[in-house]
Amino acid sequence: MSENQKTFYITTPIYYPSGNMTIGHTYTTVAADTMTRFKKMQGYDTYFLTGTDEHGQKIEKKAAEAGVTPIEYVDKIVAETKDLWKLMDIQYDDFIRTSEDRHVKIVQKIFRQFYEQGDIYKAEYEGMYCTPCESFWTPTQLVEKDGVKVCPDCGRPCQPMKEESYFFKMSKYQDWLIDYIETHPDFIQPAKRANEMLTNFLRPGLQDLCVSRTSVKWGVPVDFDEKHTVYVWIDALSNYITALGYGTDHDELFRKYWPADIHLVGKEIVRFHTIYWPIMLHALGLPLPKQVFGHGWLLFGADRMSKSKGNVVYPGPIVARYGVDPLRYYLMREMPFGADGNYTNESFLTRMNADLANDLGNLVSRTVAMIEKYFDGVLPAWTDAVDPELDTPLKEHCAALPSLVDEQMDKLQFSQALAEIWKVIGECNKYIDLTQPWVLGKDPEKKDRLANVMLTLAECVRFAAVLIGPFMPSTPARIFEQLGVTDENLKSWDSLKTFGALPAGTKVQKGEALFPRIDVNKELEALSGGKEEKKEAKAEAKQEKKDQKAEKKAEKKHDEPEYPAEIAIDDFFKCKIQVARVLACEKVEKSSKLLKFRLRLGKDGERIVVSGIQKWYEPETLVGTQVAVITNLKPAKLAGIESQGMILSALDDNGNLRLVTVGEGVEDGALIG
Ligand code: MSP
Repeated sequence: MSENQKTFYITTPIYYPSGNMTIGHTYTTVAADTMTRFKKMQGYDTYFLTGTDEHGQKIEKKAAEAGVTPIEYVDKIVAETKDLWKLMDIQYDDFIRTSEDRHVKIVQKIFRQFYEQGDIYKAEYEGMYCTPCESFWTPTQLVEKDGVKVCPDCGRPCQPMKEESYFFKMSKYQDWLIDYIETHPDFIQPAKRANEMLTNFLRPGLQDLCVSRTSVKWGVPVDFDEKHTVYVWIDALSNYITALGYGTDHDELFRKYWPADIHLVGKEIVRFHTIYWPIMLHALGLPLPKQVFGHGWLLFGADRMSKSKGNVVYPGPIVARYGVDPLRYYLMREMPFGADGNYTNESFLTRMNADLANDLGNLVSRTVAMIEKYFDGVLPAWTDAVDPELDTPLKEHCAALPSLVDEQMDKLQFSQALAEIWKVIGECNKYIDLTQPWVLGKDPEKKDRLANVMLTLAECVRFAAVLIGPFMPSTPARIFEQLGVTDENLKSWDSLKTFGALPAGTKVQKGEALFPRIDVNKELEALSGGKEEKKEAKAEAKQEKKDQKAEKKAEKKHDEPEYPAEIAIDDFFKCKIQVARVLACEKVEKSSKLLKFRLRLGKDGERIVVSGIQKWYEPETLVGTQVAVITNLKPAKLAGIESQGMILSALDDNGNLRLVTVGEGVEDGALIG
C-alpha cells in the first residue's frame, strides 16, 4: 500500500449477542461489506470493523435464564455470528468484542479521564430504566400504555431505579454540538435524522447522562470505584476507537484510520451515535466521524422483526437454498438505503427471477451463445461497420456507468447504484432485439456489423461484471469464466476507464446458467410450508401492501409539506374544520398504525374516520374526548375502510403525536376557524 493512499474506515454497530443474528443485522453488515469492497476496488486502503456488544443487564439475564455464565452465553453466539458472516461472504478486518481485555482496559482509561477532567461527577440517580434498550428516561419522557408508563422507544415497561451513579455533564457540550451539526450537514445522514436530533433532543436541552451502574455486574468495572460498572453505551460506543488501539502504545491503526468515514447504524440508534458519541469524542479531544448514516428497518409485513412476534427471518435457510449472492443482491436492491422496507419471500423470489435470471443471466448466456454460434466462440476485432444510432447511446451509457454508480455509492444509495447497472443490462437486452443478430448472422456480408454488435455486448457484460462485484462477490468470476476473461487487469475498476478493452481472440465458453429460473410458487411453498399457508401469506402480503400504502397516506401530513409563502383567506375557508366527539375508537385489524373512529358532529350526524395514530394512543382512552376534524375532505379508502375526514394533530418536542383539541364547553359539530 502506498503512503498517500486514501483510507476508508467503516463500521457496523456492534450487535447484542443476546440471540442469533437475523436478516436485519445481516442487512447492515452486508451494506458495510459492499461499501468496503467498492472502495477497495477503487483503490482505497479500507478498514471494516464489526463486533459484539456483550455487557449489560440484558445479557446477564439471558445467561441466567440459560443457566450459564454471561461469557459462556455470548461465546456461543459470537461463534455463530462469525459463522454467519462467513456464510454471507463478509470480509471484516476486525471483530471486536467488548468483553476483550484490549477494549475493557481502554474503556476504563477513557472513563477515568472523563472523571479527572471534570466531565463526570458522582450523584444519586433516581429515574426510570428500560432494560431491553439499556436506556434511562425521565418520568416526563415515558409514555402511557394501558395505564403503565412505558419506554418511548420500544413501548415496553420501564423499571424505577435509584442508585448512586456517575453522571456525564452532557449539557456542557450541547451548544457546541448543535453548532457542529448545523455547520456539518454531511455528519448525520439522511438529513432528516439530523433534524430529528436537533428538534427532539438537542434544542429542548440535554440532561446529564447517568454513566455507571452498581446493580449490573456484567460490565466494565470503573477502576477507581469498583462497585460501579460503566454504562453499556459508553462502553459500546468506545469500540470504534478501542479496536484501532486508541490509548495504547500500538495505536498505528488509530492514527491511520481515525476519524471513521462512516458509522452505519439502524435509525433507532442514531441518537446514541450523534449525541453521546460526538460528545465523548470531543471531551477526549478527538475528531468526530465524518458521517453517521441511519438506515431504515427491514420489516416483516408491517412489523419490525422480533422474536416475541415470531416473525424473525434468518439468512441461513435462504442461503442454503439459493446461494449468498441472490440474498445479498436482494438486500441491497429492494429498498432505498435510509427508508424502511419489507422482507417477503415472494419479493425475494420474484427479484431472483426478474433481475438475476432474466435480465442479467439471459444477457450473459445470450451473448456468449451468439459469439459461439457466429464466431466459433472467439471474439473478433472491432470493425468500422457501426450503426451510430444504435451503438453510440449504449456505448456512451456503459462508459458513463462507473461514475453513475460511484455517485450513488457516495451517497450510500446501494439500491440506486444497482438500478443504474440494471439500466444498462436492460438496454443491452433491447440492443439485441434491435440489432437482430440472428438476421445479421444469415448474411455473410453483415459479418463486420455482427462483430461490432457482439463486441459491444461482451464489453457491456464485462462492465456489469466488474461493477456488481462488491454486491455479489462470487458472481463476477462466473461471468468472467464464460466470457473468457483471464487477465486480472480487465476485472478491475481502472479497466473501466476505457470502453472496448476486451481483446480480439478472447475465447468465450458457455457455462451453466448463472441464475436458473425458479418456480416462485413451488419455492414459496418450500420456504413457508404447505399450500394453505402460502395462500394465506400471499393474501396477507397483499393486504399488508394495501395497508402500508394507506398508512403512509395517513401519516403523510407530518412529512413537512412545502407550504406556499402565503395563501388567500378564501383558501383557508375551503377547509371545513369541526369539533367532533369520539363515540367509538378501535384498532384496524392487521394494521399496526391505523385507528378507526366513529365521530359525532352534533346536528351534522356521525361519520367514520381512519387515522394513522395507533402508535400514540390506546383507542379506549380517546372515547368521549373531542377532536378537530376536516369534514369536507374527499373520502379515501384506508385499509379497505372509507375514511370521511381527517383528524388534526401535531408532533410534540419528543416526536410524539398529540391530537388537537378544544377547551371545555364547545358543542359537538362546532366550526373551527
Ligand atoms: N448493541 C447496540 C449497538 C451498539 S453500537 C455502539 C445494538 N445492538 S443490536 O443487536 O440491537 O443491533 C441493532 C442494529 O442491528 C441496528 O442498528 C441495525 O443496524 C441492525 N438491525 C437489526 N434488526 C434490523 C432490522 N430488522 N432492520 C434493519 N436493521 C436492523 O443496538
